[in-house]
Order: sequence, then structure tokens, then C-alpha cells
Amino acid sequence: MMNLVSVLENLVGELEEGLGKAEDAQALESLRVDILGRKGRLAQIMSRLPSLPPDERPAVGLAANSVKERCNALFEERRKILAAARETATLTGFDPTLPGLAPRRGSLHPVTLITEEICGIFSVMGFDVAAGPEVENDYYNFEALNMPPEHPARDMQDTLYITDKVLLRTHTSPVQARAMTTRRPPLSIIVPGKVYRRDSDLTHTPMFHQVEGLMVDKGISMAHLRGVLTSFVRSVFGVRTRVRFRPSFFPFTEPSAEVDISCRLCEGKGERRGEACRVCKGTGWVEILGCGMVDPAVFAAVDYPENVSGFAFGLGVERVAMLKYGIGDLRMFFENDLRFLRQFA
Ligand code: PHE
Repeated sequence: MMNLVSVLENLVGELEEGLGKAEDAQALESLRVDILGRKGRLAQIMSRLPSLPPDERPAVGLAANSVKERCNALFEERRKILAAARETATLTGFDPTLPGLAPRRGSLHPVTLITEEICGIFSVMGFDVAAGPEVENDYYNFEALNMPPEHPARDMQDTLYITDKVLLRTHTSPVQARAMTTRRPPLSIIVPGKVYRRDSDLTHTPMFHQVEGLMVDKGISMAHLRGVLTSFVRSVFGVRTRVRFRPSFFPFTEPSAEVDISCRLCEGKGERRGEACRVCKGTGWVEILGCGMVDPAVFAAVDYPENVSGFAFGLGVERVAMLKYGIGDLRMFFENDLRFLRQFA
């Protein structure tokens, strides 16, 4: 009799082991049939009851009932666990019929966007994109550009020096001299890059971006400069933009000019809603770049022949971006406020 009782007890351990392996309702049910079913293991053991001596039967019967109860409880417990797991799987599971969730994408910085747009426009006109170092020699930044030591124009530049002869370039123009030292004419390049000046207030930052342009060939005239820049300005600001060239001075160009475009905010009228326009300060024009015909002294510094001529120009990228997107504050470009940057996505 003891034998039969321990056989019954073993059944519980066996069931626990089987339940641990049952991963779904189907496995659970076949385990149940196997152990508790009409012809299952428990029933088989119980069928031997009549063959026992009558005084042993009650004890075995009691053991069988207790085992059956515990087995049922174990089944129930496992059933609940599996049901809960099924529910979470449906709630969190991948449903291929749902519409997709687009991942959040970053956006290019407005300075990058405008730089790429500018270089794209000049590339189409046949200019090569070139580059030069931000840590520059005095020679390329000044001397080769017709600004010998003690030249007063050096003061205009608020230079950040590293040593006596090494500095952070104050403009992208040194790349003109570098390109002409390594390449013979004809030549046309466009040079985007960072420049540095010891200057910091509402409208100046110690670092900003410029794009330089240079074209040299036989017979290049001011008319080419005007044509190229007018078509550039109209690509960026629209075909109705008017352009004017105002005489100016740069040591490395002669003659020199500054280019103004008609103000976009007031459409060149100089006033808006009865008040002076705040972008052009009532003039109807805004300055956008400096330019001119390459000074013969620059050609001499790079050993170019006397029968070539050329034009150069330099523009501020932040300035173009401010005018194009209507951004009123230069500092926006450097604060990296995501609410600002996301508007360019
Ligand atoms: N380098 C000048 C500046 O930074 C701009 C310029 C470039 C003017 C080329 C003329 C020709 O102000």
C-alpha cells in the first residue's frame, strides 16, 4: 500500500516538471489528458484500488484525492500564466497591418543648407568647389592679397592671432591666393568655409561662414561679374530680385563693389505698414556681398601672366540665410535650439 501512495505522490512531481515545459494551451491539454484524463495515469493507478485489501483502500483513496486536487491546482496556475503571456503578446506584439511609425529624422543646419545651395548654383555655372585651412599664414590671409605688414586694412579685420605669423583666417580670400599658387588659369572656384574675427555683439559672432568665388581667364570683365552675381542672387532670392553694385574698397580687388539686393520684406519700397522697413532700415536695399576685379598686385604675388583678368567675391552665409528665411537674430545659428533647427527639416 505504501508503494501505491508514493507512486501517487510521484505523480505531482512529474506533473510539475511537465507543466514547466508546456508553453501553450495545446501542450497543457495533452498533459492534462495524460495525467488526469479518463484513461490517464491517475485513473490507471486508481483502477488497482479494488485489488487492494479492503482496510488499505481508504488511505490510498485519500492520497489519490489529495493528489488530484493538487494536480488540478497546478494546472490552473499554469493555465493562468500562459493566458496572461498570450495577452501581453497580442498587446505588444508586432502587427504588420498597422500603419508604420516614421522614425524622427534630424535636419541640416540652415548654414549647411544655404552653403550647399550656394555651391550648387555655382557648380552648375562651372565653378569647382575648393577649400583651404582655417589656421592660416599671415602671407595668404594678408600679404598675397595686397595687404603688406602695416597696411591699414589689416585693422579692419579684428584678427585672432595664434603666433606672429599664424592666425585664424579672417576671410575665405586666402584660398584665392592658395588656388592660384597651385593652378594655372583659366580657373573658377567656389570656396565655402569658416572664418574668425575678434568681434562679438548682436550682429557679429567670433566665427561665421563665408563663400568665396574666383574666376580668372583671358578677357574676364566686370560684365561677367555682374552677370554671374545677378543670376546667383536671382536663384537664391527669386527672379524678381533687383541687384545694384555700389562702389567700395578692398585691397585685393580693383575696382571693388558691394552688392545690394532689393529688400525682400518691403519688396524694395523701404516702408511697411506705414513705417520704415526694419530689415533695410527704410532704404529698400540690403547689402549681401563684396566683390571686384582681382587686383594686379594679387596676380603678381601668384605669378600669373599679365594677359589674364578675373573677378572675385565673398559673401556671408549667415547673412544670406537671415535674409532668405527672415531670421532676425544672428545668435539663433549658434544656440542650437532644437525648436529653431527643426523648422528646417
Ligand atoms: N574678403 C572680403 C571680406 O571678407 C570679401 C571679398 C571677397 C571682397 C572677394 C572682394 C572680393 O569682407
